[in-house]
Amino acid sequence: MAMKTVKFSKRDAPRASARTLKAVRAAMARDGAVVFDGLFPLPLLKKIRREVLRRHESGELRARGLVRDIAGRYAAVLPLQGPLLSPRLYADPRLADCLSVLLGADYCLGSVEAVVARPGAVEQHQHIDGPIRFDRALRGRRIPYSGDLSDLPPYAVTLATPLCEQGPDNGPTALWPGSHRAALRARPPSEAEVLRKFRGEVMTGPFGRSYLFDYRLFHGGLPNMTREPRVLLVIVFVRPWFRDPNLADVRPGLAIAPRALARVPEKHRHLFRLAPAARRALWA
Ligand SMILES: [Fe+2]
Repeated sequence: MAMKTVKFSKRDAPRASARTLKAVRAAMARDGAVVFDGLFPLPLLKKIRREVLRRHESGELRARGLVRDIAGRYAAVLPLQGPLLSPRLYADPRLADCLSVLLGADYCLGSVEAVVARPGAVEQHQHIDGPIRFDRALRGRRIPYSGDLSDLPPYAVTLATPLCEQGPDNGPTALWPGSHRAALRARPPSEAEVLRKFRGEVMTGPFGRSYLFDYRLFHGGLPNMTREPRVLLVIVFVRPWFRDPNLADVRPGLAIAPRALARVPEKHRHLFRLAPAARRALWA
């Protein structure tokens, strides 16, 4: 069955309707992913594209924001300035309603990154972004938690928006819908098992399409065979206790200066609570 696409309509203005929320929740439970058409205004996305490409082309994005670089595809934290600080991006009320249904009302931003698939980027290995494991060790032997965690609600989700038309040949992401429920088994499935049991979907579509996926969902980047870099805007939303293992070696995941944070409307400031600028320094 194909993944669910949600297109917000008049019924969802200004807040997401009960019907939309039910559809998002059902899709995230079944597939671990849902597609949003036209969530963000194109002029805003174009401004962000210009800014990210400028930082990419100057080399600054990689030099200053690099989280990891695998197979010609690098992820870098974006500085939250200019168009990236538009509440229409991080606090769209319809999106906020969807995220509250999935992560609870006290969800917040985990990180804002760009994933740049450079020309020639090759296929990325299949992976999940954030496993939570309750293993124990006994004399060096790993003892997995034996209970069934497959029904856990999401604890972190990625909202991915390609900042261009995403075709099959410019480095799209492949998702394996439904595989999020297998990720927390005592023995996580092998790549072969995921390929056998779940049908992969390649996330292509027009500029302006976004997709939201569960941190437990198996996915991987496909090759970029074009001459243009493919820029993916990645906004991670988390339950407030979740710490992203992908950011274990770097800080911050939210690069916002104290002055910029002060300009964030009060009602949205809680979204930035994991940013160093939002935290009270002790023993300073
Ligand atoms: Fe990933």
